[in-house]
Amino acid sequence: MKSLVKTPIKNTLLATAPAEEICVKGWTRSVRRGKDVSFLTLNDGSSFASLQVVLGPELSNYEQVSRLGTGACVAVNGALTESPASGQRWELQAKEVEIIGAVDDSYPLQKKRHSFEFLRSIAHLRPRSNTFGAVFRMRSALAFAVHKFFQERGFIYVQTPIITANDCEGAGEMFRVSTLDPNNPPKKDGQIDWNEDFFGERTGLTVSGQLQGELFATAFTDIYSFGPIFRAENSNTSRHAAEFWMIEPEIAFADLADNCQLGEDFLRYLVTYALENCQEDLDFFNQRIEKGLLDKLEALAKAEFQTISYSEAIERLQKAGQAFEYPVAWGGDLQSEHERYLTEQVFNGPVFVTDYPKQIKAFYMRLNDDQRTVAAMDLLVPRVGEIIGGSQREERLDVLQQRMSEQGLEEGSLDWYLDIRRWGSCPHAGFGLGFERFLMYLTGMENIRDVIPFPRTPGNARF
Ligand code: 4AD
Ligand code: MG
Repeated sequence: MKSLVKTPIKNTLLATAPAEEICVKGWTRSVRRGKDVSFLTLNDGSSFASLQVVLGPELSNYEQVSRLGTGACVAVNGALTESPASGQRWELQAKEVEIIGAVDDSYPLQKKRHSFEFLRSIAHLRPRSNTFGAVFRMRSALAFAVHKFFQERGFIYVQTPIITANDCEGAGEMFRVSTLDPNNPPKKDGQIDWNEDFFGERTGLTVSGQLQGELFATAFTDIYSFGPIFRAENSNTSRHAAEFWMIEPEIAFADLADNCQLGEDFLRYLVTYALENCQEDLDFFNQRIEKGLLDKLEALAKAEFQTISYSEAIERLQKAGQAFEYPVAWGGDLQSEHERYLTEQVFNGPVFVTDYPKQIKAFYMRLNDDQRTVAAMDLLVPRVGEIIGGSQREERLDVLQQRMSEQGLEEGSLDWYLDIRRWGSCPHAGFGLGFERFLMYLTGMENIRDVIPFPRTPGNARF
């Protein structure tokens, strides 16, 4: 076959003029055999839409090519011409077709619609489906937009560690990292002696890059991290993954209001970016996954977010006249059903809930003057619930030490964290946006397993 430079299918679909001789490569979505000519639908992942390739009997391997099944890998040289068919501007008149990788009847991904559950069981092939093609193109585009937002504003990108000795959230949900022999660990006084372990102490996979991020914020003012997060929480829900990605900005000389403003600007920027750059994929989600998705996103791009304090939220929930599964009482954590009631029924849009009781939040959140609540903020959105969790940080050494002792935390392992309160402490704040939760909101996909390439959940780390 004549060697030509490969053209992405996206470019052929956007062409402004016919072309005599181009080459495309990709995977067949379907082949329709006709009496005189056959039609091969080719997709290379560069766009949602596929290119129609017209196969004529003059092709030397016509018999073979026109009988290809779904999923074969082919290269086609041909002429890009105006298509007489409706719904597509261009088609490719094949001159030469090379079968790069044939496929047999056992290929599990057929042209019909498959359930997302089934597609999860073939996570190595689902990127070739319409829905997951769209999901992962959007994921890539939005990861870029995350960096663009912060880089345009002069934030420094920090790579916080993946292996750490600190359970930032204090929830005891760390996966352990160890090179000790599990069958014969070294012991001291009957206990495993972690001093003998690789790092000389007990370590795990990070649950948040925040603590290290705070250090960088007290040198660079505005920073962000964007990396994988690991949580061994045994909750098998549609919104929890054991491995997910979090974006964590941290800003110095800032309070809770500045933090909420940053979260709002950030989210609006990402949504606007998607509306401007991911139109084709968003149209698909709007039609097939969540009706009204585009209206929802356009509204978010314009409207100001609402804010309610935790205490007010509790009052609203108690007056809701609704039977919740979990009782509502001041001092208790908001459950998913409560969060969704607030954002869906009360506000019908994104809402910040602020100033939670100190006993249900992490040690690092700044104590409010009422001594009962901390300067926390969670952003809730319809359908997904919490997508952002953040706070102003406790910058006062004595108050921080007091909070740590209340929560039974030893100062020793966090002496470096306390040091920044000793030397040049300043008010600062930050938050974490769960990238997958955000993608669920953006695409309307209802299960977190369906917005991450290879989901890790309890009992599942295949692929
Ligand atoms: O509210 P979280 O636990 O906050 C923190 O970890 C802070 N240290 C962040 C910070 O202030 N720098 O988590 C932040 C967000 C949540 O709002 C949610 O979107 C997401 O991370 N998240 C998860 N996403 C998927 N699976 C899980 N198991 C998640 N846990 C939290
Ligand atoms: Mg949270």
